[in-house]
Amino acid sequence: MMNTLLLDKAKHDRTQFNCGIETLNNYLKVMASQQAKKDNTRTFVLEDKNDNSHIIGFYTLTMTPINLKALPDKLQKKHQSSTSGGLIARLAVDQRYQGKGFGEWLLIDALRKLIAASDIVAFPVVIVDAKEGAKQFYQHYGFQSFEDTKHKLFITVSDLRASLY
Ligand SMILES: CC(C)(COP(=O)(O)OP(=O)(O)OC[C@H]1O[C@@H](n2cnc3c(N)ncnc32)[C@H](O)[C@@H]1OP(=O)(O)O)[C@@H](O)C(=O)NCCC(=O)NCCS
Repeated sequence: MMNTLLLDKAKHDRTQFNCGIETLNNYLKVMASQQAKKDNTRTFVLEDKNDNSHIIGFYTLTMTPINLKALPDKLQKKHQSSTSGGLIARLAVDQRYQGKGFGEWLLIDALRKLIAASDIVAFPVVIVDAKEGAKQFYQHYGFQSFEDTKHKLFITVSDLRASLY
């Protein structure tokens, strides 16, 4: 059984992690633990079962303002009183483990956690900040582009519930 855990800097070897994008590597190495301590973001990691200091991949969750005007008309109306969405701020898989389904597994795990969060504090959309080249990865799972930005995508919690339960 695979399971994500909160990043633990005493246990997880962040220095070995390389997803091919330096800003993402650096976030894990330098920022993730501090930001969690300050309650700004949460970072979850998937460990390699053979060596649990080894990080296969990680994702970082937080909240973000919704630009209502950039949503399709129907959703603007439905969610006009909402201000925030759940955010997958970062998601990456180490190069040694890419192309084996871990990215998909991590994305679904992150989305399940966000659905559970939304069951308690209610927010209508999940937003993702997709790095260069990763946009299609998210579109593959039903995320739609915002009209105003090139790299942000969203999916409604309602659609997620329908597809993940
Ligand atoms: C993007 C990323 C999270 C995907 O993780 P992964 O473990 O390699 O992906 P998976 O093996 O789970 O692939 C799941 C599906 O997404 C597709 N996919 C993977 N990476 C993709 C990408 N960058 N763009 C579009 N589709 C992608 C796979 O083909 C697969 O589709 P399939 O089920 O139809 O075969 C991972 O490659 C990563 O961390 N990359 C960091 C660097 C980055 O963002 N690169 C983008 C530039 S190429």
